[in-house]
Amino acid sequence: MAEELIISNDLSKAEKYESLIPQIEALVTGEPDLIANLANIASALKYGMGFFWVGFYFVKEDELVLGPFQGPIACTRISKGKGVCGTSWETAKTILVPNVDEFPGHIACSSASKSEIVLPVMKNGEVNLILDVDSDLLNDFDEVDQIQLEKLVKVIEGLI
Ligand code: SME
Repeated sequence: MAEELIISNDLSKAEKYESLIPQIEALVTGEPDLIANLANIASALKYGMGFFWVGFYFVKEDELVLGPFQGPIACTRISKGKGVCGTSWETAKTILVPNVDEFPGHIACSSASKSEIVLPVMKNGEVNLILDVDSDLLNDFDEVDQIQLEKLVKVIEGLI
């Protein structure tokens, strides 16, 4: 296992993801514990890409429950259809939120979070996990993040 991530500051955002995702794959290869892997993925993504908050929510019965994350403390439980995470769960779709104040029902775990991207992680045709990435900058996510994070989600789907 690599002991540290190597991401050059000179790279474009897409190149950073393209450098990071194989390093994440290497980090989780051979480790069967899902919590350990999700914890390292949250850290790799937060520190590799410089995001404000990165974490996972587990689908547990009729709620999302906070899983491994990196960043400030966060909401522990989210109902289906509530907030960005609960909406991504309900629709099984990636949601890009350029300005959290303009998303109806957005759940503000931290007032510092300004934009957000939320992706569903599927298992057996159902949403099993939610990946939530927050930025303290407005409009910080675009289709590059969506394409690259959906690639990372495929890696995570191989772990669950
Ligand atoms: N903003 C999210 C809640 C989770 S936190 O951002 C960590 C939402 O509206 O679902």
